[in-house]
Amino acid sequence: MAQNVDALTPVMTGQKVIPVIVLDNADDAVPLARALVAGGLPAVEITLRTAAALESIKRVAAEVPDAIVGAGTILNGANFDEAVAAGSKFIVSPGLTPELVSAADGHDVPLLPGSVTSSEIMKALEAGYTHLKFFPAEQAGGAAYLKSCASVFGQVKFCPTGGVSVKNANDYLSLPNVLCVGGSWVAPKDMVAAGDWDGITALAKAAAEI
Ligand code: 3PG
Repeated sequence: MAQNVDALTPVMTGQKVIPVIVLDNADDAVPLARALVAGGLPAVEITLRTAAALESIKRVAAEVPDAIVGAGTILNGANFDEAVAAGSKFIVSPGLTPELVSAADGHDVPLLPGSVTSSEIMKALEAGYTHLKFFPAEQAGGAAYLKSCASVFGQVKFCPTGGVSVKNANDYLSLPNVLCVGGSWVAPKDMVAAGDWDGITALAKAAAEI
């Protein structure tokens, strides 16, 4: 089964910036998601980098109907299954493995896998994946690298993440092969810890208007 592009496209084209979220405390998940929705960023990626991640996804899926909650940092099939079970509407991984392809095959929930090199992109295409994350974007060659990919891999659309910020987002978004960018700058750890939801809504608004 190929990538569920129909399910992924609204996520990737509905907003220019997808917040990448690391949560240490699941109690912060709902107010944070509400703050991002209020700022115009309903699709949010909660990364499986903390013990609070799956519970955070569950709560947002159950309590913030206007949010489109996704799971990030999915490294294997077990991660994929537990993220879907928690209510994730989309799944993001830094790379693509045969195990992940198999896990995604059984689900309607779309997978946005990462690819950087030409061989990785070609393997993704062979597996039926045309919509890819590009991570770590700045460190891997930035917008100039992706611009070069456009002529060779015209059918591939990217979401760059990693070192993307309000300062360089437009370098990526102006490329024909970039649909959206991802980044943690709209939900900084210190503002989450302080419960500065209004401040986060303001950051989200600024990101939504890029
Ligand atoms: C990701 O998982 O996409 C990145 O960690 C986000 O990178 P950033 O923190 O540099 O925005």
